[in-house]
Amino acid sequence: MVRAQRQDPGVQLPCRYDHHVRADGHPAGLRVRSRGRNLISGPESSRQRKGIPVTARDPAERRPIAVVGATGLQGRATARALLRTQAAVRALARRTDSAAARALTGLGADLVAADLDDPESLRAAFTGVDGVFAMTTPGYDQRTDIEVAHGHAIADGAAAVGVPHVIYSSVGGAERHTGIPHFEGKRDVEEYLVARGLSTTFVRPVFRDNFAQFMTPAMQDGKLMVRIPLPPGIPLQMIAAEDVGAVAAAVALDPGRVAGGSVEIAGYERTGEQIAEAYQHRHDVPARYEPLPIEVLGGDADQRAMFEWFARPPAFRADFAATKALAPRTKTFEQWLAARPERE
Ligand SMILES: NC(=O)c1ccc[n+]([C@@H]2O[C@H](COP(=O)([O-])OP(=O)(O)OC[C@H]3O[C@@H](n4cnc5c(N)ncnc54)[C@H](OP(=O)(O)O)[C@@H]3O)[C@@H](O)[C@H]2O)c1
Repeated sequence: MVRAQRQDPGVQLPCRYDHHVRADGHPAGLRVRSRGRNLISGPESSRQRKGIPVTARDPAERRPIAVVGATGLQGRATARALLRTQAAVRALARRTDSAAARALTGLGADLVAADLDDPESLRAAFTGVDGVFAMTTPGYDQRTDIEVAHGHAIADGAAAVGVPHVIYSSVGGAERHTGIPHFEGKRDVEEYLVARGLSTTFVRPVFRDNFAQFMTPAMQDGKLMVRIPLPPGIPLQMIAAEDVGAVAAAVALDPGRVAGGSVEIAGYERTGEQIAEAYQHRHDVPARYEPLPIEVLGGDADQRAMFEWFARPPAFRADFAATKALAPRTKTFEQWLAARPERE
């Protein structure tokens, strides 16, 4: 979701700073506000609507869960969370000889070669599974059309071989007609999955832990500078990729968990200033938030639309209580930061 920042060196902010980090860790975290909505109440899930039992599967009768994008951030997190429960994982990868793919084998996943551009490979990979975890991506070229085509291919493959349940990792707000191109693409995929008659759960993550990849603060004049194109004082809901995986795994193991068949998930919300404060505590160096003008995103219409949407709260509307119920160890920003290496 932050592709433009990766491309724009003015925003990318590589983080290679030299300083001592306090040995006693970081102080208590900031308060996380919970919207406190109840996961259990609400309309029936798509399985319930079709009269399909929604009980958790008997472990002895479980077949594998196929994981699309298993070499990527959320797919890998989902595979790992499933493997921790002893569930069988069929990890899909374009290249089965990559380091990321081999790492999954080392964890106990069954690796299969599959490409979202190759429908036959998807049908084979989805045959005989209990469920599919699916993600799609427009990639750094922002090809929403390709993301949608991949989503349709996943739906067609799953429908062709009768996959019992599909968990699609979409994005928070996908159903709210945001006008953000890659959000609308994910909505298209959601609708197509339903149109193909599949039993589905839509897990809709908010802004992820992009501070790990794209938005690492830069050390400048003795200060850690946190820079985002987000006005001061505006809270942004966020979640760690690992926690997206934990939620997806919980749903894969028990497809009836999410009432209504969709849940917007987040671990916490923070303003830019609060993010800087957390970095200051974590690394024991002064940190400052510097809101960037939206113009730093240049002509990237998708990213501009997204950050403009962020600036008009409420943008994301995650169900914090539901997230926690599905993944009790969901991290706050401070907990996520504390687990990061001291120097990145
Ligand atoms: N960052 C955020 O704040 C945020 C928040 C909400 C939603 N999202 C959404 O999350 C998605 C990205 O997820 P991610 O971070 O997990 O992605 P990622 O780490 O970039 O991984 C992408 C995965 O997709 C696989 N893939 C790509 N093209 C494929 C193809 N043709 N066939 C088979 N596999 C293919 C890749 O496999 P290879 O190893 O073969 O390349 C890789 O496993 C985007 O749609 C984004 O919009 C992001």
